[in-house]
Amino acid sequence: MKKRSTFALLAIIIAGLVIFLWQNHTPASEVNNGSTPPKQSFNKKQYSTTDPTSIWVVVNKQHQLNPVDYAPSDLVVPNIPLRVPGNESMQVRKVTATALEQMFAAAKQQGIDLMLSSGYRSYAYQVSLYNGYVQTQGQATADTQSARPGYSEHQTGFAADIEPVSKECEVDPCFGTTPEGIWLAANAYKYGFIIRYTAADQKITGYEAEPWHIRYVGTALSTELHSTGVQTLEQFFGISGGAVYK
Ligand code: DAL
Ligand code: ZN
Repeated sequence: MKKRSTFALLAIIIAGLVIFLWQNHTPASEVNNGSTPPKQSFNKKQYSTTDPTSIWVVVNKQHQLNPVDYAPSDLVVPNIPLRVPGNESMQVRKVTATALEQMFAAAKQQGIDLMLSSGYRSYAYQVSLYNGYVQTQGQATADTQSARPGYSEHQTGFAADIEPVSKECEVDPCFGTTPEGIWLAANAYKYGFIIRYTAADQKITGYEAEPWHIRYVGTALSTELHSTGVQTLEQFFGISGGAVYK
C-alpha cells in the first residue's frame, strides 16, 4: 500500500514536470544563440514622408512638395552615361548619384548599358515640361503622364528616368520589355530604388505605367517592399494618392 502511494506521488510529480517543461520550452527556431539578431519589425517612422529632403518623402497628386518650389542643396552630376550632358536635369541628389553609379556599374558588368534620361527637375523646368504635354495632348492625357509643377518626384532629386544607351524604347512603355527594362525591374531594389509607377497600380499612383522611372528610397525600404511584395509607397505608408489633384 505504501509502495503504491509513493509510486502515484512520483507519477504526479513527473507528469507535472513534463507539462511545465512543455509549456515553457522555446522552439529551436526561436533560440537566439547570439549569432543572429532577433528580427525587428520594420520601423515605418524612421524617416519623414512629408519632408522633401527625406528619402521616404511621398510626392503625389494629393501631396504637393512643401515648399512648392523646393530645391535640394546637394545636387551633383552622377558619373554615368547622360542623355543631355550639361542640362540641369542631369543632376540628382548625392545619395541618388552614388546609388545610380553602383547600379549602372553592376548592370554594365552584366552587359546592360544604361543611360540617365532625366533626373532632377526644378519647379520652373517642370512648368515648361508639363505645359508642353498639355499643349500636345490636352490636360486630361497630360495629367496621366506628367506631374504638375510642385508635384513631381523629379523635383526631390531622388527620381531618375532610365533608358538604354541605344535609346531603344526611350521613355516609352515598351522599355519594360527591353533587356535594360527587364534588368532594371529585377535589380533596382538592390541599390535602393523602386519602380515607382507600375501598370497594376495606376489608380493608386495616379499615373500610367512608367517602367523607366525609378525612385531612390534607400535599400532598407526597397528590400522591405521587394520582400513583402508591396508595390507603392502609398500602400506601404497608408498615404492617400490617386488621379485627382488636391
Ligand atoms: N512623369 C512623372 C509622373 C513626373 O512628371 O514626375
Ligand atoms: Zn520620371
